[in-house]
Amino acid sequence: MNHIDRRDFGAVALGAAAATLLHDREAEAQPRRPDAGTPLSPSAAEAAVAPLPFAPASLPGLSERMLVSHHDNNYGGAVRKLNEIRTQLAGADPAQSGAYWSLYGSLKAAELAARNSAVLHELYFGNLAAGQQPPAALATMVTQRFGSLDRLRAQMLGAAKAANGWIVLVADGASRTLEVVQTENHAMGGWSASPLLVLDVYEHAYAIDYGANKPGYFDAFWRNVGWNAVHERATRALARG
Ligand SMILES: [Fe+2]
Repeated sequence: MNHIDRRDFGAVALGAAAATLLHDREAEAQPRRPDAGTPLSPSAAEAAVAPLPFAPASLPGLSERMLVSHHDNNYGGAVRKLNEIRTQLAGADPAQSGAYWSLYGSLKAAELAARNSAVLHELYFGNLAAGQQPPAALATMVTQRFGSLDRLRAQMLGAAKAANGWIVLVADGASRTLEVVQTENHAMGGWSASPLLVLDVYEHAYAIDYGANKPGYFDAFWRNVGWNAVHERATRALARG
């Protein structure tokens, strides 16, 4: 099967499974999550640190100490920095920007990194939960696209071992199928793609519990994937077309 054939196959698989996901959509409760987005506002509200959406001692293999540190220091730090940057941007002059260094340009780059860090951390914490299996429609989509859940797992682990950043399963609006995206920092991503399952592979996400044993951390992550959140995100992404 060549590359184009695989893309076509994936697009067909996504379309077939989408109908089942959308059929399920109305029947599901849609509790507000930190990553649910907000209506467009005429003014930018100050970003707020969302609480962990689970009891921090409830995930086997991921310690409360590490999760609380990750949430408070790394995610919380990104949110606080985002607000600080935006305060400084309010007083920076865009007319002073240019091809070489400028305060405005540097602040805009830092704003994007902090903003993406905050969003990705909320998605990451939002897709952690103990003891879940993928809902049937999501499992069907994953199997049709990747061959099996184990093959998706192998792709995400392979990307995780190579990266220091984020690994994200996305619903890609460009290819109309599921893709695994590997990024090296907060500011790179797959435009037009909707994140479904987010994995943090910065050292701060695992070193407290696992040292340099990234595969050990990955095993614990995989045991704690909140598949219901992944299913809800897939449903929302596919509803947007
Ligand atoms: Fe992180």
